Amino acid sequence: MNKVKVGILGAGHIAAVHAGLLKQDERVEIVGIADIFEEKAQELAAEAGPDVRTAGSIEELIALGVDTVYITTPNTMHVSPVLHCLKNNVNVFSEKPMATSEEEARQIRDAARESRGCYNLGMNRRYAYVYKKIKSYMDSGQLDAYSAHFKMNRGELLHPAWTSDPAKTGGFLYETPFHLMDLCRYYFGEVKKVKCQATQAVSGSELDNFAILLTFESGLVMTFNTFAHSGWSFPFEAIEIYGKYSTASTAELETVKVACGLEGEIDSSDYHLMPVSKKWGYEEENRLFIDALVNGTEPPVNAEEAYKSTFLLTSIYESAKTGEEINVADQLNKVLS
Ligand SMILES: NC(=O)c1ccc[n+]([C@@H]2O[C@H](COP(=O)([O-])OP(=O)(O)OC[C@H]3O[C@@H](n4cnc5c(N)ncnc54)[C@H](O)[C@@H]3O)[C@@H](O)[C@H]2O)c1
Repeated sequence: MNKVKVGILGAGHIAAVHAGLLKQDERVEIVGIADIFEEKAQELAAEAGPDVRTAGSIEELIALGVDTVYITTPNTMHVSPVLHCLKNNVNVFSEKPMATSEEEARQIRDAARESRGCYNLGMNRRYAYVYKKIKSYMDSGQLDAYSAHFKMNRGELLHPAWTSDPAKTGGFLYETPFHLMDLCRYYFGEVKKVKCQATQAVSGSELDNFAILLTFESGLVMTFNTFAHSGWSFPFEAIEIYGKYSTASTAELETVKVACGLEGEIDSSDYHLMPVSKKWGYEEENRLFIDALVNGTEPPVNAEEAYKSTFLLTSIYESAKTGEEINVADQLNKVLS
């Protein structure tokens, strides 16, 4: 069997997580690692395997003979290398976010439609154990959600240093909050309308405090709070979902409780002992992406799906900036038609 020949662009924190997992997949050969800093590329290449080569750019990386590239550079540095890969029919696993504007997300979606390369966005929360458990209750009809509250705080915007620079992040919502914006679509379907109130609480350069009200096509309503500088007091990420006589709740990616019925048992799981690469969903998202390449099937979060989550996020920013309620469904239908 021909192996999937992988290159990684951006040799930082998340690149090491993906490299560690890809190294264990016998269907994959890690061919090269690229970074603007040669020593960072060398360090990760040494960890990834004895024959892994280094490069300084996306062009050099592809020239090493890779057929698949992981894009793990800071947020606003995803679009250009992704488009380069798709134009050259190279498969792409892009870390989140897809892009930091609707126009750029659309460019990627359109390029993916034209390309023989496969595009996948790394939305690991979909495969995190706590969230998979809740999804299975929803899919089986045991948890019929009507209402929800999601919280996705960050402790600080200090590490890595670029997270405090909106020119590199695209804005705070493109940081960790993007994960749960995608998760709410994954759980509840398409959003009909959104209203957001946001302030510049601590940061000198951007909105960093968001209270968001979302109404879904299904009628479900939810609140979403996210604050960028709360400290890492546990749980900084938590969701609650309410159905008829039922509640699901999580604390970080560690524990989940699902209570169905007025007298039923509470199903409670604790994933503290599981390795992060597994419990946070990275293992499964990588396996599903490589499955798609090997089998020629659709990847788990293709460009159409990634575009819709990005569109939701740009709509929230629009509401934050204008103070208006945004009819997301109408606007999305216009750009899709
Ligand atoms: N899915 C998740 O749970 C998750 C977790 C962490 C980070 N991320 C995402 O992954 C991306 C990287 O985050 P990180 O925490 O690994 O950051 P990081 O700062 O640790 O790593 C980024 C690396 O990219 C390199 N780089 C910067 N510009 C480059 C360029 N033009 N070409 C090549 N290399 C370049 C840097 O030198 C650095 O080594 C971000 O988009 C972030 O949002 C996702």
